[in-house]
Amino acid sequence: MDKEKLIIFDTTLRDGEQSPGASMTRDEKIRIARALEAMKVDIIEAGFPIASDGDFEAVKAVAEIVRDSTVCGLARAVKKDIERAGEAIKPANSGRIHTFLATSPIHMKHKLRMTPDEVVEAAVKAVRMARAYTDNIEFSPEDAGRSEPDFLCRIIEAVIAEGATTINIPDTVGYNIPHQFGELIKQLIERVPNSDKAVFSVHCHNDLGLAVANSLSAVLAGARQVECTINGLGERAGNASLEEIIMAVRTRKDAFPCDSTLDTTQILTCSKLVAGITGFNVQPNKAIVGANAFAHESGIHQDGVLKSRETYEIMRPQDVGWATNRLVLGKHSGRNAFKTRMTELNIDFSSEQELNEVFIRFKTLADKKHDIFDEDLQALVTESALDTENESIKLVSLRVCCETGETPNATMTLNINGKEQKAESAGDGPVDACFKAIEKITATGVNLQLYSVNAITTGTDSQGEVTVRVEKDGYIVNGQGADTDIVIASAKSYINALNKVINNSGRTHPQTGDV
Ligand code: KIV
Ligand code: ZN
Repeated sequence: MDKEKLIIFDTTLRDGEQSPGASMTRDEKIRIARALEAMKVDIIEAGFPIASDGDFEAVKAVAEIVRDSTVCGLARAVKKDIERAGEAIKPANSGRIHTFLATSPIHMKHKLRMTPDEVVEAAVKAVRMARAYTDNIEFSPEDAGRSEPDFLCRIIEAVIAEGATTINIPDTVGYNIPHQFGELIKQLIERVPNSDKAVFSVHCHNDLGLAVANSLSAVLAGARQVECTINGLGERAGNASLEEIIMAVRTRKDAFPCDSTLDTTQILTCSKLVAGITGFNVQPNKAIVGANAFAHESGIHQDGVLKSRETYEIMRPQDVGWATNRLVLGKHSGRNAFKTRMTELNIDFSSEQELNEVFIRFKTLADKKHDIFDEDLQALVTESALDTENESIKLVSLRVCCETGETPNATMTLNINGKEQKAESAGDGPVDACFKAIEKITATGVNLQLYSVNAITTGTDSQGEVTVRVEKDGYIVNGQGADTDIVIASAKSYINALNKVINNSGRTHPQTGDV
């Protein structure tokens, strides 16, 4: 590459996971991390290890498995966080600690209740502590987008002098606009005397829909690392979307002085995997990965594209993985073909038993559905993980009666901690009846906030993938379920959410938890 390198720091597993309901299990994080590594992401921020024992184990597992990408753990600028992050990334081939402390007047005064001098001192101390674990240290002045540039220069100079190798400038609340944010980055690089000793990075939130624009403006101003997430997942309105950043820089080579080394053909696989695991479906008109992103509807457009692709297409769909969405397996495919395709999709099984279990599910699905696509295989793995991980409630059987002019009725048997229980309920529709029957048995008292159904592939034999979001005492989780029968998929997703509510482990949020 004759251009400077643009480092891609993916934070889907950390900031992405901070979206309400998007929390991921250890195994889900491992699957996504493998896909990110296959896409050649430079740095994977795997989580916030102090948040809970589960988070610590997840970051450690990613650090053990990922070999080619750097694995990063987030830590507030305090000893216990840094120690935990340092321990979690220890097994990594290449590990990074990302420590942060707020620098905006509003955050220092109201959240931290610290003076600017105390903030500088704590930041320097945090970097010093992190050096006991790694030389690869990133420091973020949180809410930099609303911080005073003079103060930013002071703290950045101090942490670089202490050994920080990446300085990340977050627009934490998504307040900035492109030309101002670019100007801030330019100023910091010019004014901080030792700025040449660190890579400048940006981390933009999308509250005003400007995360990608702000990130690209920063790149033009000298930033050489961008923090982003698959599908733009992230706190509130999300983070800058990885696929949009990459494809903007790739497509407009003429406009950017740098490029990434990412394998863009893996983008769609990653997008679908993250959507499937988190239940955050991608809107059809989403750039790059939306179902309509390369679909030309009007006759004029189609005519133009058929004559010459460049008339209406600025990118080739196959460059981001659309053409690889092919039929892979069917009813007669054997175990070897199944295993080979799973390996191609970066899905590894921890044991022969796990492989056999998923293979049996594959055979059952292939009996119901003629064509099995990559998305079906990913959904099978998600499903089997759901069954094995800490499920207190399991679906045993479901019978639903629907008839024109009659009230739908559901009869449900669940296994709760090893004991079968049965209930019957009427409802406005089959799904409503089903959820009411589940609630009769479990009496969880959750509030349903979202119910959405998505066809995993095309055709009426497609599996339906259902996402529900439920809330209990302020704790929000998403549940997923897939099946060729959407009522069964709905029941599975609701049960999955209830299991997560029951297993709520009380995690600490990096930006609101007490230090
Ligand atoms: O948005 C933010 O400021 C963050 C920091 C932890 C970098 O996510
Ligand atoms: Zn963030």
